[in-house]
Amino acid sequence: MNQEFSPALPANHPLRTQDPALSTAQSDLIKGYRGEVPDRRPVWFMRQAGRSLPEYRKLREGTTMLDSCLIPEMASEITLQPVRRHDVDAAIFFSDIVIPLKLAGVGVEIQPGVGPVLDAPIRTPEDIAKLPELTDEMFEPITEAVKLTVAELGSRPLIGFAGAPYTVAAYMVEGRPSRDHLGPRTMMYNDPESWDRLMSWTAEASGRFLRAQIMAGASAAQLFDSWAGSLSRTNYLEKVMPYSQQALEHIEDLIGDDGVPLVHFGTGTGEILDLMRDTGASVVGVDYRLRLDEANRRLGNTPGPDGRSNVVLQGNIDPALLDADWDVLEAHVREVIAQGAQAPGHVLNLGHGVPPTTDPTVLTRLVELIHSIDY
Ligand code: CP3
Repeated sequence: MNQEFSPALPANHPLRTQDPALSTAQSDLIKGYRGEVPDRRPVWFMRQAGRSLPEYRKLREGTTMLDSCLIPEMASEITLQPVRRHDVDAAIFFSDIVIPLKLAGVGVEIQPGVGPVLDAPIRTPEDIAKLPELTDEMFEPITEAVKLTVAELGSRPLIGFAGAPYTVAAYMVEGRPSRDHLGPRTMMYNDPESWDRLMSWTAEASGRFLRAQIMAGASAAQLFDSWAGSLSRTNYLEKVMPYSQQALEHIEDLIGDDGVPLVHFGTGTGEILDLMRDTGASVVGVDYRLRLDEANRRLGNTPGPDGRSNVVLQGNIDPALLDADWDVLEAHVREVIAQGAQAPGHVLNLGHGVPPTTDPTVLTRLVELIHSIDY
């Protein structure tokens, strides 16, 4: 049944294996991402692994965020926790967009409640020249954690991910989280050569990180360009998109119609959804700011260069409503489903990550509700 998947994927990859206990090819998530009609409506949540779960907080006690990503048994266990608890249709690999930097030896930590903070921002041509070389070997702890995880998940898919070059570079240039991302936008025009070198480095880091996860058994992948919404269409087209494409060149043979589905997501990206598709994604993640029927209309009205008129959508339950009364949340979810029905396929998710204060029992109930709504 699985012969259709690319031979570039290892023969024992979950999409290619003939072992029904380990095959993800017929899972609801993969069917949903391929625009087929699944048995149940597929749903998973960005940031489902992590701070909203007491079992996560307990396991992480005494270990820093990035260290926990690099202990394969711990990363694997944290990845599995939300699947056991919520019965979501996919696991998302527990890691972080700055892990490739950490593995390459760039000084970076995640400060609780703040986000990624570098020992020193990377701004000058000298800083960029000093960036360490990237190798495949450095991703060994990732490969090991993914293998442990897919062995436990069986026929439920693991989603791998990476930060897109722009979002990672934004942290590198600012040295820490920023609201306006002035630094990277200054650099892209003021010092285009440095921008090119920095973005080429981050593209390689993201590409290798994605490749390691897919080769080790991830059945889908998501490219997070979380902060691409801070760019104009021209900025994105000229100074960012080519590097996201460069990142995806590393997995060109593993994605596409006979490979793993690739989701492309960012916040505030309503004006560039078509460009995000044209980067090479088969699924576009939509944040909570834009209705799915409108996203579908925008994508449908702008056929891509390969003639595909539109793509499968993922999203976009407003995370703020996780804290609302159940009736309000349920009505919103039903509306999201109705709006998504116009797309060639729809996988439910939030419009951004699970807030740390979310009551996890609400997520479990939400999955039950979504699974109970027939097509
Ligand atoms: O459950 C999952 O989605 C899997 C793991 C995951 C994490 N980070 C774990 C994490 C994923 C997919 C990410 C991606 C990520 N990391 C993004 C893109 C997604 C997005 O939110 O737009 C970004 C921008 C980052 C960088 C980052 N890491 C931020 C902004 C933060 C939040 C800082 C804070 O504490 O508010 C982190 C930390 C982080 N990454 C945590 C987790 C579970 C919290 C750390 C903790 O538990 O102390």
